[in-house]
Amino acid sequence: MTADVHTPPGLPVVGSVHRLARDPLRYLAGIQNAYGGQYPLVRVDPPGNRPVTVVTDAELVHEVLADRDRFRRPQGSEQAQRREGLLSSDGQLWEAQREVLEPTFVGAQLADYADIAGRTVDDVLADWPAEGPVDLYEEMSVITMRVITQSLFDQDTTRERGRRVREALEVLGRETEFGLLDFLVPDALQTGPSDDLEAANDLLDTVAGEFVERHREQPDPPRNMLTALVEAKQDPEVALADNELVDEAVLFMTAGQETTALTLTYAFYWLSRNPEARQRVREEATTVLDGDRPGWDDLNDLTYIEQVVRETLRLTPPAWNIPREARSPVRLAGTDLDAEELLMLSPYAHHRDGGAWDDPESFRPERWSGSASRAQDSYFPFGSGPRVCIGRQIALTEAQFTLAHVLQQYDIQTTTADLDFRLGVTMRPDTALETSVRTVN
Ligand code: HEM
Repeated sequence: MTADVHTPPGLPVVGSVHRLARDPLRYLAGIQNAYGGQYPLVRVDPPGNRPVTVVTDAELVHEVLADRDRFRRPQGSEQAQRREGLLSSDGQLWEAQREVLEPTFVGAQLADYADIAGRTVDDVLADWPAEGPVDLYEEMSVITMRVITQSLFDQDTTRERGRRVREALEVLGRETEFGLLDFLVPDALQTGPSDDLEAANDLLDTVAGEFVERHREQPDPPRNMLTALVEAKQDPEVALADNELVDEAVLFMTAGQETTALTLTYAFYWLSRNPEARQRVREEATTVLDGDRPGWDDLNDLTYIEQVVRETLRLTPPAWNIPREARSPVRLAGTDLDAEELLMLSPYAHHRDGGAWDDPESFRPERWSGSASRAQDSYFPFGSGPRVCIGRQIALTEAQFTLAHVLQQYDIQTTTADLDFRLGVTMRPDTALETSVRTVN
């Protein structure tokens, strides 16, 4: 072991992997605060499975995420690789897909997505009671499911169908749940896919298949993600697999729906605990929107609300860990890493680094009001480098619009005091957040 890597003391044999697996968020944030600024890498004892190394240096995080030649997303289980799409592909296939899809996420398309978001929030709120309890995460999920299917495929989805898709996506998430077993039991000994998982995948294939089918039936389909992929399929230079469209549809729902619903749920949680911030959001929303539903032209004026979203993503980043593995043996920050050594790049831990942020545990949206933040490198809720989240603008816009439109109409209060998380690819609340609403006028 070289001088640049530090192994914290842990239990013999399982060592600190045990603690990492038991409470990853606490452990990673602890490592960040104890060793960040001192050791760029911290290796966790590897007992049964492959070694795990935590990247504590923020600049190094971006270096790793930028370096596709030496690091890749972990290949994961066979199950995780079942679908080919932007989220899961690698190498030339990924390059081709990203090139085809990128233009559907910029410029004029964004204004269309924003209007879809504004309309959808308005529609969903029309069903809310004037006063009473709501299932916050459920409601936010309905909004994000409808926005994503309309934005990407020009097709709306009913509450009931959206719920079934979400349940299926949750089963997929559970199978990838982050647990002790992943570290202690070699991949070869881990159990295969469950019946539930097979059923969930079948449902997702059917629903996504219908999206694709209906899209194909339109004589003059509107320009969207599916159009781009269909066109790419006809380009002999771009070799896309046959089930590409269905897989891509499922992967986009996986990547974009739950993450945005979680962001919104957490934002309302933080605002409930910070009444002054909530009041400022309401004032801004009322001034800018004046009772109307939000639209593209309002976006630039919702500045404080944007800060609230950024601060929510700092304290509760849905993608709490961005893993990478070394493609082959490499040297990083003076340390030799094995092929397939797992690197943990954790937004959750970096976002709470006391060396980078003033008062890191406090919810302070104003910290985003200045120009460049000195903690910029320590903030990466959407990842970084070539594989940075392609949907980040859609997500931010949708979050701003939802917060603004809800709060100009409702008092919303979440009484859950402390958040506990269930960790999979994302961090979800462990229990439903008790929330009540009441119209303000
Ligand atoms: C607040 C909401 C969101 C968060 C926190 C989030 C987070 C992330 C992160 C951290 C990555 C990078 C993963 C890595 O490098 O390994 C990523 C990639 C991705 N995201 Fe998002 N995301 C969000 C919303 C969305 C939305 C709305 C969409 C689709 C409309 C989307 C689609 C994708 C796709 C397709 C990728 C893979 C990009 C690639 O590999 O080239 N995300 N997201």
